[in-house]
Amino acid sequence: MTQAMTMTGRQFAIIGGSGFADFGTDADGRTLVTRYGVPSAPLRRLNYDQHHVSALARHGEAHDIPPHRINHRANLAALAMMGVDSVIALNTVGVIRRQLYPGQLAVPDQLIDYTWGRDHSIYDGSSATLDHIDFTRPFSDPLRTLLLAAAGRIDVDCHDGGVYGVTQGPRLETAAEVDRFDRDGVDFLGMTAMPEAALAREFGMHYACLSLIVNFAAGRGEKAIHEDIDASTLTAKMQSMRVLKAFFTTQTGRSDGPRRT
Ligand code: HPA
Repeated sequence: MTQAMTMTGRQFAIIGGSGFADFGTDADGRTLVTRYGVPSAPLRRLNYDQHHVSALARHGEAHDIPPHRINHRANLAALAMMGVDSVIALNTVGVIRRQLYPGQLAVPDQLIDYTWGRDHSIYDGSSATLDHIDFTRPFSDPLRTLLLAAAGRIDVDCHDGGVYGVTQGPRLETAAEVDRFDRDGVDFLGMTAMPEAALAREFGMHYACLSLIVNFAAGRGEKAIHEDIDASTLTAKMQSMRVLKAFFTTQTGRSDGPRRT
């Protein structure tokens, strides 16, 4: 079935990554307990005009939960309990592909999962149900299109597409590992899109990443990686916040969203 995705009636959440621990702290937080445990942080509410958006700090509000210890199942289950059906995931990434640069944003359209040992499915044998989700296209195309359109309206340089390689972390990669990821076709490296994206699909949600490019991947830049990160994170963060504002404030009520098959 072909169906337009519009903003109207959707329940959005933003999952914030590094640099977004203080996301929405001005609002009342709500701590939920799910069958998978407690989420990384209280769910907070952000208001963009008449849009009420849930905000969740993936690494905790003290930024003390490393990528490999995030309880993604509890995070997504808590959002599902709140009626969320569409998730914008903010995450920082290192870039392999030469044409892209730190400070820029990207909305990837594919991923390769290199993580291990994470609770990656809600189907853990404890219930009679099982769904082999179709993950051919891991990110929601309608949501990606809306994000890119929002960036375009305010002239923010946001790359359309690319393969997000999800690494285990918390350490960064070796130069040889980056060469291997490059041979695999990976464009950016980050540590958090999986199993988050797959769990969102299991919960039936739209999910897309707005990725903040904050460094050249190991062995690919001129500077030390942490110099890159220190120099670019604030710029990328400010740009991503502008895109979110454009996303939520100028699309309200429009009914000409992209098509979903
Ligand atoms: N590799 C993996 N994850 C990251 C990077 C990186 O270079 N930069 C930000 N998150």
